[in-house]
Amino acid sequence: MRLTCIAAARPNFMKVAPILHAAKKYPGIQCSLVHTGQHYDERMSDLFFRELELPRPDVHLGVGSGSHAAQTARVMLAFDEVLDQQPADMVLVVGDVNSTLACALVAAKRGIPVAHVEAGLRSGDRSMPEEINRIVTDSISELLFVSDPEGLIHLTREGHPREKIHFVGNIMIDTLIRELPYAEASGILDTLGLNAGSYVYITLHRPSNVDDPAVLSRLMDVFLEMSHEETLVFAVHPRTRARMVDAGFDMASSERFKFIEPLGYRDNLMMIRSAKAMLTDSGGIQEEASALNIPCLTLRNNTERPVTVELGSSELVGNDPARIREAWGRFKSGTWKHATAIPLWDGKTGERIVRGLRQAWG
Ligand code: UD1
Repeated sequence: MRLTCIAAARPNFMKVAPILHAAKKYPGIQCSLVHTGQHYDERMSDLFFRELELPRPDVHLGVGSGSHAAQTARVMLAFDEVLDQQPADMVLVVGDVNSTLACALVAAKRGIPVAHVEAGLRSGDRSMPEEINRIVTDSISELLFVSDPEGLIHLTREGHPREKIHFVGNIMIDTLIRELPYAEASGILDTLGLNAGSYVYITLHRPSNVDDPAVLSRLMDVFLEMSHEETLVFAVHPRTRARMVDAGFDMASSERFKFIEPLGYRDNLMMIRSAKAMLTDSGGIQEEASALNIPCLTLRNNTERPVTVELGSSELVGNDPARIREAWGRFKSGTWKHATAIPLWDGKTGERIVRGLRQAWG
């Protein structure tokens, strides 16, 4: 089987890596890796390839940034040509970024079966670009690999035949388990002058939180207020940095409020593992914090990953300052919930996916 795997943006790399590692054990599967180049900075891409021991991509499409339509269209045109040159028997896409949708569409229209990893996630919020990408990708995929138990309900409700759906667990956790020992050897806490358990770690990049200067400004006010009593470390995503610059925010670090560049996988994992609490709007960090039982105040009103709220350590606190303050007060009072074990977050999801691919191939 010629399997073409797609990686595009930062949250994809830790999902593709365990699948490629697991596939090495099966000589009958010939993998190739296409990087669409949706993320292209050293810190958003290359560093992850090195740390996660991803092979050099067979093809790099170099599409870069742009509007949703332009980015999606560029990926489609370029990937169509790749499939002319390098035919595939199956295309595997992960997650919910624009490239996931673009490559799935191209493959499906050429009659190539698509396997979607992280199928069935639904936030119910169609103003999120990722939600549209999820719905469309699932609707044209032949193999639906589900990570969150609620995904099964969504896919069944949407009429997907049961035989297409495989509950395989969370692929992100495979990478987390594999990388944790390396993360623990990371010198990031020393580099930043931090002690474990002494700081709150912040990441923010959703358009709904950063694109409107009024919303961003309210969030920054809450963070500044918190920095009077806590050390905050804010890893600033490129989208957020651009919006902060446009809005004229001061990003000069102080003793109590440190602004840093986005971190690589291992340093970021160490920062989460050693944080007192997380403030984030990242889907992946909701999961990583839950796996590590780190209190996670999720700055969103909905989540496509409800298991992180039901069994994990995440709680949805939105972006309204009063709600964030209230949740923060509860955290400070020591009553934050503890995460419990989550089904199939066991480090073996990559293996289950590869077995599922082989079975489907016959
Ligand atoms: C994308 C994904 C989102 C994912 C996020 C993680 C979509 C619709 N969104 O959002 O699901 O959670 O990645 O990061 O696919 N930029 C750089 N360097 C890079 C990449 C981006 O400077 O390597 C800048 C560009 O100026 C760009 C902006 O960041 O305009 C946003 O990047 P983009 O990939 O369009 O969307 P994200 O907000 O990163």
